[in-house]
Amino acid sequence: MPPPDLKIRKDIERLRTELDDANYRYYVLEEPRMTDAEYDRRLRCLQEIETEYPELVRPDSPTQRVGAPPAEGFREVQHAVPMLSLSNAFNEEELMAFAKRVSGSTSLEVENIPFCCEPKFDGVAVSLVYRKGLLEQGATRGDGRFGEDITSNLRTLRSIPLRLRGEGWPDLLEVRGEVVISHEGFEELNSHAREEGSRVFANPRNAASGSLRQLDPKVANTRPLELYSYQLVNRGSDNIGVSCHSEQMGMLRGWGFRVSRELQVVVGMSNVIDYCRKLGGKRDSLGYDIDGVVIKVDELRLQRDLGFVARAPRWAIAFKFPAQEETTRLNDVEFQVGRTGAITPVARLEPVTVAGVTVSNATLHNADEIKRLKIRKGDKVIVRRAGDVIPQIVGVAESAGGEEIVFPKSCPECGSHVERSVIYIRLKNKAVEKPGSIYRCVGRLVCPAQLKEALKHYVSRNALDVEGVGDKLIDRLVNEGRIKSPVDLYSIDEGYLASLEGYGTVSAKNIVSSINASKNAPLDRFLFALGISGVGFETARAIVRALGSLSRIRIAYPEVMRLIPDIGRTVAEGVYDFFSDEHNLSVLDGLIEQGVPEPVDYGLGRDFVKNTSMPAIISFMEIDGVGNKLANDVALVCPTLRDFFSAAESGVLTKEVKVSKKAMVGIKQKLSDDSVKNKFLNIENQLFEFGCHWTQHVRLEEEKELPFSGQVWVVTGVLPNMTRDEAAGYLEKYGAKVTKSVSKNTSYLLCGDGPGSKRDKADELGVTIVTEEEMVSMAAGGSNA
Ligand code: IVH
Repeated sequence: MPPPDLKIRKDIERLRTELDDANYRYYVLEEPRMTDAEYDRRLRCLQEIETEYPELVRPDSPTQRVGAPPAEGFREVQHAVPMLSLSNAFNEEELMAFAKRVSGSTSLEVENIPFCCEPKFDGVAVSLVYRKGLLEQGATRGDGRFGEDITSNLRTLRSIPLRLRGEGWPDLLEVRGEVVISHEGFEELNSHAREEGSRVFANPRNAASGSLRQLDPKVANTRPLELYSYQLVNRGSDNIGVSCHSEQMGMLRGWGFRVSRELQVVVGMSNVIDYCRKLGGKRDSLGYDIDGVVIKVDELRLQRDLGFVARAPRWAIAFKFPAQEETTRLNDVEFQVGRTGAITPVARLEPVTVAGVTVSNATLHNADEIKRLKIRKGDKVIVRRAGDVIPQIVGVAESAGGEEIVFPKSCPECGSHVERSVIYIRLKNKAVEKPGSIYRCVGRLVCPAQLKEALKHYVSRNALDVEGVGDKLIDRLVNEGRIKSPVDLYSIDEGYLASLEGYGTVSAKNIVSSINASKNAPLDRFLFALGISGVGFETARAIVRALGSLSRIRIAYPEVMRLIPDIGRTVAEGVYDFFSDEHNLSVLDGLIEQGVPEPVDYGLGRDFVKNTSMPAIISFMEIDGVGNKLANDVALVCPTLRDFFSAAESGVLTKEVKVSKKAMVGIKQKLSDDSVKNKFLNIENQLFEFGCHWTQHVRLEEEKELPFSGQVWVVTGVLPNMTRDEAAGYLEKYGAKVTKSVSKNTSYLLCGDGPGSKRDKADELGVTIVTEEEMVSMAAGGSNA
């Protein structure tokens, strides 16, 4: 058997390789095998081992992507080889002129020159320097000669290898490429920002650039940044033995860099033009912004012969596509009401062609967006269209000082009151209510717009799948006042349908029979069909799996619903509100009377029962000072809430559970309010009535008490294995606060060689001094005494 530390080293290396391979499969080969959950699990596993053996942590470990503390600014770096720009061609004639210039300087005919064609990514150009296979520096382009050192941010990109794969790379290698954000990533980033009321980006390039300029790499780490590499700069003298740019790109791919799948070597200008047309046709489906094609002479020898003019190479050109942003006039803003009553402002525009498509409408998302953009009617606005994404207004180009846009206070369709949504965000383990970004008409089915959308949803495929009842028929039935709720669907008469234009006796019969066939629908489809805000098909299934019957679902308290895996507070409150609304309940009873849905009781779900425990209920009470650990301990002596309440009064808690003074204050305060007590007793009662019992103790995962929690450390001198910054990072990871100077509040001084005045100060104040080795053993649970 190998000695234990060899085994640990092997485990670490195996996990690192597995994680690197997973990234490589995902980003370079684009055939992922490992799920995100599995990736995270292995990363955590590696983190745990590395925490135990910090001496085995290496900077190229996948755990070290977000290592550095926030910077105060970016260091300027000089590019060893300047980062140049490209000349542009705006039409095919200009492309041909480029080819003729190349042909004139070489002995090749225009139709015989091999070109490498690739997308021109619309992102942020960066340079990466690798020394002996390890990422040493990442920088922005800057002015081409000097850029900014953004290594810590670039290290967070999983499409950038921290160590090169394979072999054959030169000791000193520079790779250049473009950092982009995909359309999907961009939409997610902005919709999250809209929800939280934080900064919304105008386009993916701005988002990428803003993210790379964040001083804290933790922020960059949350942004969906990705790198596409397009240039290899061999800075050493090592000959990597290739003669073409396209081969270099192949090498880069092997060393772990993502290179565009669209890259292609084509011979002759006619084929280049063909490539440009084809890529132009695919532009909308690539999933990220490109603004053209870069055409490069493929042979490196020819590139060298051609050289440079001014600040651009003569061996390459950028063929530009039409812009994805154009300006046009904002004629008006209309307000559309959706299924859940959400009111969306839609901009009506003077039609304009954006990247080949005529745009006359754009979304304005919500009221905050109108405020943020400061748009008024008649303004010249900048419209952006990319891929399948709905066209957006990104800003005002020229204000016309016209009429202000006022968000309606009442519903434009039915006149009902408009209400602002509420979201719940967690701050330090506590839920905080925040005004959301959605405004809703409270009219529900009284509102014809909501009624139409609700009916369309009710009959749709994943819902009750009623064939023959399409959008047109629904519009008509609602407009003519034949239908006031989904219940009325079940009493539509065949004669009336047959009398409508476009319908005959046969189609009328079919429609009525498919409506009838939707009775007895499975409960999950039915719950989805109700169109409750936030309840998609999967959520509906999860609720049915957990609670098993409509009679339980319709009375379940939000806290009870939150015991269902993946159901958060917002959805739980939404479902509860839906079933508290009298109008909704009368529709529901009407439907039940018609025999919808299937009257079933599947019983409680196993996972739901497993999640249901005394500590979980205590944690829902959100008592100041009571974390999961204390909730677990309290549950050990108090099997029910009633026991907990009386134990809090009798002092048993302080005696048997050793509840701290601070937590006791929180508990007393919470329990001083009878309505809170009753609310939670009701919740507990409901769980008992539903059939949950918690005789066994299910414990909540405890927040970690870290070995250095509450301690203040100072680091000084040269340490044997770590830099001072690394030591500070290490201490913080274990819960310590690290400060710069020794004071009476200092708990420990971590001291290396050549300590200077800090050590004297520590001696003077009687602060305990520890070595690096002692610190590591303290972190592992030993004590320094
Ligand atoms: S090659 C000598 N290839 O375009 C310049 N550049 O206008 C070699 N760009 O700063 C650059 N996609 O940021 C190259 N496939 C691609 C590119 C690309 C985008 C950017 C790059 C450069 C700018 C020049």
